[in-house]
Amino acid sequence: MARGWPHHAMLRRVSSYAVKTIILLFVISFLWLQLRVVNLKPDLFMPLKSQYNDPELTFFANYSAIVNSVNATTPANIKLLLDTIEELNALQDVNNVDKFGPLNDNDVVIVIQVHNRAQYLYALIESMKQAQNINQTLLVFSHDLFDPHINALIQRIDFTKVIQIFYPNSIQLHPNEFPGHDINDCPRNMKKEEALKRNCNNAKHPDLYGHYREAKFTQTKHHWWWKVNHLMDGLHITQNHIGPVLFLEEDHYVAPDFLYILRMIENLKITKCPQCNILCLGTYVKSYNYAAFSRKIEIVKWLSSKYNMGMVINRNLWEQIKKCAKAFCSFDDYNWDWSLQHVSATCLPSPLTAMVAIAPRVFHIGECGVHHRGKDCSSDRVVHKVMKVLSSSSSYLFPETLTVHQSFRKPFKAPKGNGGWGDVRDHALCCSQVKNFSFYC
Ligand SMILES: *[C@@H]1O[C@H](CO)[C@@H](O)[C@H](O)[C@H]1NC(C)=O
Ligand SMILES: *[C@@H]1O[C@H](CO)[C@@H](O)[C@H](O)[C@H]1NC(C)=O
Ligand SMILES: *[C@@H]1O[C@H](CO)[C@@H](O)[C@H](O)[C@H]1NC(C)=O
Ligand SMILES: *[C@@H]1O[C@H](CO)[C@@H](O)[C@H](O)[C@H]1NC(C)=O
Repeated sequence: MARGWPHHAMLRRVSSYAVKTIILLFVISFLWLQLRVVNLKPDLFMPLKSQYNDPELTFFANYSAIVNSVNATTPANIKLLLDTIEELNALQDVNNVDKFGPLNDNDVVIVIQVHNRAQYLYALIESMKQAQNINQTLLVFSHDLFDPHINALIQRIDFTKVIQIFYPNSIQLHPNEFPGHDINDCPRNMKKEEALKRNCNNAKHPDLYGHYREAKFTQTKHHWWWKVNHLMDGLHITQNHIGPVLFLEEDHYVAPDFLYILRMIENLKITKCPQCNILCLGTYVKSYNYAAFSRKIEIVKWLSSKYNMGMVINRNLWEQIKKCAKAFCSFDDYNWDWSLQHVSATCLPSPLTAMVAIAPRVFHIGECGVHHRGKDCSSDRVVHKVMKVLSSSSSYLFPETLTVHQSFRKPFKAPKGNGGWGDVRDHALCCSQVKNFSFYC
């Protein structure tokens, strides 16, 4: 039950005796909460903070109890979860509007893609809390997993406006059918001949390396695409938003001046790079040197493997990307960023040109993800390292001016796909997320 308990990472320093006591207290209070929750049967849609100040008792309470206490994969519970998610997505409740006012045209919308790593997400939220001007943003948390601990963590945010959206075609909601794994789907390594003989579902559509789809590797790209489409063309609060949209993930961490730098780069763009169409607040660096680089901006051709972190786009670019939906959705690669690279190289009016903060203001703290099995996943080593770097570099943050460095790199050819996206069902689902899909896809 303590799985994913967000404070875990922060408990390290306390003595182990205290840790045990706290965990025990938590478990007991959680059990107590659940019992109370079941007894109270609170109305799911009771306005937050009406009677109780504890979100676990209100908005998500009923479903926390269900998800935690019973086998969530029984058909009845999946149906319940599907209905809940549909209702939450229709309701579109934005927290803290009363305190921070409506979303203004030029406010920054920060959209965070969340799967299941609550400890990293906790660190990200703490870092955002400390950032300047965070109270003039909208945080959109986009989920492909309904997880009570993660929901509670987000419902507790009180420093800016917050909304949660839930990807409706997740594997959690479709464990035994597409987009999850259908029992009649062809196994990944089956030869096409054999698959055709067996007549399994997707026999005709292995990827370009001859492999059949694996549901868990397709979800991230699907979720990413759904999220952008929903945000830009579906969600009431953002569907007409013309200001910047910043993309983060659950295992990112931000510097206190990340919004300040975003605005500085935006201003610089007007005079120094009007043709730039994407901003990047982070890159992957081996060592940090804020003294030398905190004021420096690079202008580069966007490269997915380097600049996929802390990307900022606006509606103009989105309209162009959307027209390339077909290129994005049918490209045989399960990575959203590599697919965007393909779109950039083959479909956009001009390839993505980025302004990049050389000293990163967005960091990748998640060592353990889809691609990094086998590492010490309970480790908060990277978070501590980043915190240390930021505090020792604090005098270099919030620079008064920025300077631009034009980088001349060889232009790259259109990328070859990495596979994992050969199934026509994936192409069709992806296309169906675009609001005007028959037109573009
Ligand atoms: C809470 O869950 C129970 C099932 O355990 C269900 O019968 C009830 O309708 C739910 N309450 C709300 C408000 O949805
Ligand atoms: C939950 O239910 C599903 C389907 O009824 C079953 O296949 C699975 O083994 C169950 N899991 C647990 C942990 O009981
Ligand atoms: C946001 O924070 C700034 C600085 O702390 C403060 O001056 C301002 O009043 C806040 N605005 C809102 C709407 O809370
Ligand atoms: C869909 O596409 C048509 C044709 O371009 C356009 O007239 C219409 O406004 C679009 N609708 C939406 C919701 O984007």
